[in-house]
Order: sequence, then structure tokens, then C-alpha cells
Amino acid sequence: MVSRVIPVDNFDLVIFGGTGDLARRKILPGLYRRFVAGQIPDETRIIGAARSEHDDDDYRHFVQDAVCEFVASKKHDQEQINAFLKLFFYVKTDALGEEGWDKIASMMKPDVIRVFYFSVGPRLFSPIAERLHRFEIAQDDSRIVVEKPFGRDLETARALNQELASHFDEHQIFRIDHYLGKETVQNLMAVRFGNILFEPLWNSQYVDHIQITVAETVGVGGRGGYYDKSGAIRDMVQNHLMQLLCLIAMEPPSQFEHDAVRDEKLKVIRALDPVERDEIVRGQYGAGDDSSSYLEDSENPESTTESFIAMKVQVSNWRWKGTPIYLRTGKRLRARASEIAVVFKDPPHSIFGQQDGRRGNVLVIRLQPDEGMNLRVTIKEPGPGGMRLIEVPLDMSFAEALGEDGADFPDAYERLIMDVVRGNQTLFMRGDEVEAAWAWTDPIIEAWQERGDKPITYDTGSSGPDDALALLHRDGRRWREIK
Ligand code: BG6
Repeated sequence: MVSRVIPVDNFDLVIFGGTGDLARRKILPGLYRRFVAGQIPDETRIIGAARSEHDDDDYRHFVQDAVCEFVASKKHDQEQINAFLKLFFYVKTDALGEEGWDKIASMMKPDVIRVFYFSVGPRLFSPIAERLHRFEIAQDDSRIVVEKPFGRDLETARALNQELASHFDEHQIFRIDHYLGKETVQNLMAVRFGNILFEPLWNSQYVDHIQITVAETVGVGGRGGYYDKSGAIRDMVQNHLMQLLCLIAMEPPSQFEHDAVRDEKLKVIRALDPVERDEIVRGQYGAGDDSSSYLEDSENPESTTESFIAMKVQVSNWRWKGTPIYLRTGKRLRARASEIAVVFKDPPHSIFGQQDGRRGNVLVIRLQPDEGMNLRVTIKEPGPGGMRLIEVPLDMSFAEALGEDGADFPDAYERLIMDVVRGNQTLFMRGDEVEAAWAWTDPIIEAWQERGDKPITYDTGSSGPDDALALLHRDGRRWREIK
């Protein structure tokens, strides 16, 4: 399969926090891969901006190291790397002061799109936005890219939206949720709205329940300070899982266009019922044989922050009333496995006898690893002996179906950065969407705080606390195994 790459016009990109971890791991390697794919023209200019003292050569070394460390070695080509490094410059910049801004202004080319990537802590978002405006660096068609966390509750998110809005229009603000850049996540929309097969069944009449699982094996080591103030609800549920839920539950937008898609997602968030106390389970990982506990990783022996959460969510609208959506995410679990499982109801009547006929179909969309889809169907077991039914998967691994090149998906970040350059906001969150998500999560967090709730300790390498299993058992259902 030949992948189709549409080159963009050349652009100026300034990465604030250009020497940071996100730039090193994701942004710079992603840009290199797009460059190798022929999407980024040689005249493009990329400026790293940060507090530390460096010159252009130092920064190019930093970029080269990032590429060598985080891009698959089969894509290392010294000639390409050298050509890529020529795009880079460095400006020592004080986000809270005056240094560096005139220089950045003087380096901007007059007639190209300017993109400003805020790969910095949230407290610097507003000061940078204000300076881009004051030093006349940003133009009416410039774009800013803002990383999560976007606020830590409704109030702070609203304040941040207002501050950014005083310098930039909504069409210039790209709030990143990297889950929306994942190939399979976008495939969710293709599967739902590009086929006639699923949509007629996609409602509470035919769907028994939906499970969304994002399981990780890593702990919070190294990010304990940040994580302890966030927990799984702020770090994963309010954004990534919420986005998955929206794409699964939303009505078909009239077209695949930014506001049409985001309007439909917003309606889902606004239709979410408040979650009852007994519909949420919070956990915290204990120490493993050779790994530390959450309390050690967070360096906070008193911490009541959750590293695991499971919850039952209800979307109260005509399509979904009565079909629960179970969310589950956690760290230090048995396997790294993210998937969405749509569990259909049993056929209304079994012509094969009670035992054999009643098996629900399950559509599983695997986000990672091994992206693909799998539909469990019932067939007759081959051979004599009557009508014995068995379940088999109709399995489509994207790597197998599309061949190695076709399944060599761009990483979420590289796809999203190119969308910013093209000005396509479909896979970015709108301000009202982020606020609605906080409006739903805030009461949940406040209730924990008021009650002084403590998370349940679970074993490293398990599938979370047993109470999470009970959350489904009492509804007569079972989580799919994490594997
Ligand atoms: C980040 C969270 O947004 O997403 C991390 O802050 C989490 O805690 C990560 O590990 C998961 O992303 P991915 O792409 O590895 O599933």
C-alpha cells in the first residue's frame, strides 16, 4: 500500500519549551518523520525557545539526539538528518520577561503561517500568549498549540480560555488531546460513519453496554509531583477517556468538519449523568517485587490520589438511555492494552435451544498495541454432531490487512502538528468542550474531597482493585480481560 502524503506550504514554528521532555520525545521526532515523508518543505523554519543558554548548534545537537533516540533506526539517514537540522534555530527566551521576544519577531518570515507550540507548564500559557501579541509576533492567521492540562477544574479552564481569547480567536487555538491523533481513534469514526453495517445497531436497543479500557504497565515514576495533584481522573478521564466516549456515543455529524464534529461531541458530554458514589472505584498501586509503590513514586506517604479508576457512566439521551458505558484506566496494570468493546445484546430468541443461541456479538476496537478491530460472531462448530455453536473472532489486524507500510502509522503528535499547520481543528478540543468536561468531573472530585475518600491499594501487575470487578458483576456483566 502506498501512503499518500500531501506536502504543506512552508511555515514558521516556534516551540516554547523547545528543550523539554515533550519536545524531545514527541514533537521533534514527529517533525523528523514528517520531513522524511516529504511533507515539510526545506524552507520551513523551526525555532526552539527556552530559558537556558544555547546557540543554534547546541540546539541542532539536541534535535539530532532526540531523533536518534526516538525515531526507529530504519528511518535514520544521516543525509536526511542533516537536511532536517538546517531547519532549526534557537532563541533564549524568558516567558515571563522581555528577553528573546524581539529576536523571535525579527526571525519570522512575512508571508508564511506561524505556529506557536506551548510545550510548557500551564502557568506560562497566558504570559506567552500576551507577549506574542505585544511583540507583534502573532498575526491574524497564526496558530497556537496548547498542551494539557488545560486547567484543573472548570474555574481555571474558563479563566484560561478567557485569557487566551483576549489575544487569539477560537479558530487560532489548538488544544491538543493526543488520543484524538491516534490512528485507531480516528478509525472509530470511519467504522461508524463509513459503513452501513454498524450504525443501525448503535443504540440502546441493540447494545448491552460499552467498555473503554486504557491500561498501562508504567507507574508515575519521574512525574510523581505533577501526577499527585492530578490523579487518573484529571490525567486520563477528563480528557482522553472522555474523548473516546464522545466518539463512540456521538450522533453522526452532518459532515467531517471541525465544528460539526465538535458540536456533536459537546452534546454527549452535556448529556452525561452525574456519577453516583457507588459507581466509581478508585485504586492506588502497591509495591511490586521489584517496583516501588505509588506512595513511594509520588514521594507523598499520605497521598490519597488515585492511579486507577473505574466508573459506570450513563449518557442520558434517546440513543443511549439504559446502556451503561464503563470506563477503566490505571497504571502498573497487567498489560499495556487500550481498547473499546461494544458488547451487543443476545439475539431476542434462540432457535437452537437456550444454551447455544444466546451469545452477544462484541466489536472490539484495539487502540494499542496491535491496532485493529475484532468482531466476535457465533458460528456452527464444523463437523457432525448437530448444531453446536461456537464463537470465533473476525479479526482484522491493521498491520496484516494493510501491509507493513500501510500500518506504519504516523504517531499521534506528528499527525496533529500537520493538522495545525493546515488549520484543521477537527481533532482538537474546542473551549466549550473542555469546560463541559470539567463541569462533569468537578462534582466527582469535590465529593471525594468532602468525604475524605481514600483509594484502595491494588497489586502491581493486576487488573486493579477487586471492587472494580464487582462494579460490573452486580450488573451481571464482566470486564474483558486486560491482556
Ligand atoms: C498522558 C498522560 O496524557 O497520556 C500519561 O499524562 C499517560 O499519564 C499517557 O501515560 C498515555 O498516553 P499513550 O499514548 O501512551 O496511551
